[in-house]
Amino acid sequence: MSAGPVVCIVLGTRPELVKLAPVIRACERRGVDYSLVHTGQHYSRALDGVFFDDLSIPEPDHHLGVGSGSHAEQTGEMIEAVEAVVADEDPEIVVVQGDTNSSLAGGVVASKLPTTLAHVEAGLRSYDREMPEEVNRVLVDHVADSLLAPTERARENLRAEGLPDERIVVTGNTVVDAVREHARVAADRSTVLDDVGVEAGEFLLLTAHRQENVDDPDRFGRLLEGVARYADRVGLPVVYPVHPRAAERIESSGVDVPDAIRTVEPLRYLDFLRLEDDAALVFTDSGGVQEEACVLGTPCVTLRDSTERPETVTVGANRVAGVDPESVVAAAEAMCDRPGDWENPFGDGDAADRVLDALVGSRSESDREVTT
Ligand code: UD1
Ligand code: UDP
Repeated sequence: MSAGPVVCIVLGTRPELVKLAPVIRACERRGVDYSLVHTGQHYSRALDGVFFDDLSIPEPDHHLGVGSGSHAEQTGEMIEAVEAVVADEDPEIVVVQGDTNSSLAGGVVASKLPTTLAHVEAGLRSYDREMPEEVNRVLVDHVADSLLAPTERARENLRAEGLPDERIVVTGNTVVDAVREHARVAADRSTVLDDVGVEAGEFLLLTAHRQENVDDPDRFGRLLEGVARYADRVGLPVVYPVHPRAAERIESSGVDVPDAIRTVEPLRYLDFLRLEDDAALVFTDSGGVQEEACVLGTPCVTLRDSTERPETVTVGANRVAGVDPESVVAAAEAMCDRPGDWENPFGDGDAADRVLDALVGSRSESDREVTT
């Protein structure tokens, strides 16, 4: 038996903080001994520190401070640093979430140490290997011992790749737990509508940060043009909280942001949730935002050529438009009047408990003291 904590949670980016916060809280509620390892992939306060505040996440036990770099530099440094911590802590289970380089690093390390590797949000597939995230999620799924799939469709994707049924448990997506826990607080406390000068139901929300969109100035320009064209047509402003990767590309490549689009700094979770809830329509290339819009009943247009969240399209919450301006406008026109009463395909908000049920059953810190 391992000498360390039961669970070691490795994370490093904004979406991992959002989606692992419910798992961290469930560990605390159930008295499961855990440690938190932050790779430092995200480090700007707007992508990192504010999420600790809004989601009540405790300070990490280990902060590795890796920061930015090429994929190989960043992932390589994280692998080395995570290995040192995990080898020393000797946890029973290492938990990673999603598809970032931090997840990959945690996955590679745990798969070669005598610990169980659990992948939360396993089985998503865009079937586009040009996306670094697709490579990461496939690799982590194939080395994980425990695959926590958010939906039946994700389970089927894993089965189709030959991964054995005994490793897979369908838990729902922890994004629902986070939305359920915070949407009311966001509605009560956030002043973001006044802060950015928009009225509920009378604005459009945009996020665009994905490498394949913003690192190609021509593609990024067309994406912005399509959103602005629709905004001009319906006479609504667009609020665009700009991720640092996109901000750098706007700065360095001179991509023109049309007047209809109001750029703001990345928003804290509660403010962003409020905007997602109150927007007439969301345009996004984010994975988490496609899910949250679906859960909140806000129609979504995805500015990508594919999605690993096809459940959102099937229930009628989302349309995949690419970035061609005419397709973006056509998709927005098709989505804008949807009533938002579609079925939520991501579960009932108890995913974090199901993750812990699958990993540790009813064991708690006090049980452990008896057994070790
Ligand atoms: C990463 C994930 C992506 C996820 C996104 C969430 C990978 C391969 N990509 O992309 O799947 O959707 O996080 O937001 O893991 N930067 C800052 N401050 C920060 C972090 C980054 O200014 O705190 C800037 C740096 O210039 C950096 C660039 O953003 O080079 C990209 O950061 P990086 O972590 O490499 O990838 P993301 O685009 O954030
Ligand atoms: N988000 C936020 N503020 C913003 C933009 C996004 O709090 O300005 C949150 C959003 O609610 C979601 C998460 O960030 O929970 C999604 O992260 P991101 O789009 O960076 O990554 P992805 O989900 O695409 O991997």
